[in-house]
Amino acid sequence: MRIATIVGARPQFIKAWAVSRHLCSRAEEILIHTGQHYDERMSAIFFEELGMAPPDVNLRIGSGAHGEQTGRMLAAIETTLIERRPDCVLIYGDTNSTLAGALAAAKLKIPVAHVEAGLRSFNRRMPEEINRILADRLSETLFCPTDTAQRNLSAEGIADGVHVVGDVMHDALLAGQERARALGITARPGVVAEGPYILATIHRAENTDDPERLAGIVEAFLRVECAVVWPVHPRTRNRIAGATERRIAEAGNVRLIEPFSYLEMVAAESGAQAIVTDSGGVQKEAYILGVPCVTVRDETEWVETVATGWNTVVGADSERILAALSAPPRPSARPNLFGDGHAAERIATILVEGKA
Ligand code: UD1
Ligand code: UDP
Repeated sequence: MRIATIVGARPQFIKAWAVSRHLCSRAEEILIHTGQHYDERMSAIFFEELGMAPPDVNLRIGSGAHGEQTGRMLAAIETTLIERRPDCVLIYGDTNSTLAGALAAAKLKIPVAHVEAGLRSFNRRMPEEINRILADRLSETLFCPTDTAQRNLSAEGIADGVHVVGDVMHDALLAGQERARALGITARPGVVAEGPYILATIHRAENTDDPERLAGIVEAFLRVECAVVWPVHPRTRNRIAGATERRIAEAGNVRLIEPFSYLEMVAAESGAQAIVTDSGGVQKEAYILGVPCVTVRDETEWVETVATGWNTVVGADSERILAALSAPPRPSARPNLFGDGHAAERIATILVEGKA
């Protein structure tokens, strides 16, 4: 069986790593990188650190407006799929690369399998929500990380081909911790301070492209009592360049650094007093690692992390962020929400053998 896996953005390299480890001995996998992320610290570093083979095809699409970027990916993926003739196309998450992969495959009548199906924020102003809804519609096989995701699909009338398998990011985290131990990788020396620190990541368009929201978040970081370690996504770096960056440098408590590698990130998350983020993956990692999370969004797809009390959704208002950080809850219970660490094996079995 020949499976074409489409990736393009940072979290997709990590998810594909978790699954490809179980697919490689059972199927022929062609890894197609759209080139949505291309900086060394947003792309190559993950392949190198995790010991992944480089992509079979890199389409080098790069950045662009949504329609333009997705359109160029669609054309290039179509050409590649016609050349490579896979039996199935495997897509991950909710980025423009996900949508382009789903659409190119579906038009060529190649079955699509979607990892992280059924996630919903119920906010259609989010580009990712559009991508998810359409990717799920176009998929024949839908791998849900949680029961909530399955219920979301069911509410949209999607029941065939749906499998609740657990979350591949949980698998990745376990495998990543093992690899970090074996390689002796810890948080980048000299970057993560001795003493308590808050780890921050911000990259959602709703925050970076809204000056008021971004100012509220930065204000909170500048006023927080302890050090803030902030590995900065390039989208955000572009937005804070200039006056904001100078203000941060003067204040002294916020360390703006280049994006972490995955294993450095997991180490930095594990040692943090709390995490402030608008990332989907980081909310889950915080939960799995038992670190309180403050989510700077107006809603989250990962509702279970909020229901269990470990994640507080506060929007982008500095006072609310600071209030949440002043006493981050650490409930006594932390049930297993994201599976047993074997989601990737289940996905490989279903793809190759057609059954769970
Ligand atoms: C994308 C996904 C988002 C995901 C995130 C993971 C979409 C619509 N969004 O958001 O769902 O959570 O990836 O990190 O697909 N840039 C660089 N170098 C890079 C990559 C990006 O400088 O290697 C800059 C460019 O200015 C670019 C901007 O970041 O325009 C945004 O990149 P893009 O891939 O469009 O969206 P992300 O915000 O990364
Ligand atoms: N991550 C990383 N380095 C960083 C920030 C995040 O390796 O500097 C990892 C993080 O541990 C998680 C994934 O990237 O596994 C999340 O990706 P991101 O926040 O970019 O996207 P999202 O999950 O919101 O789609």
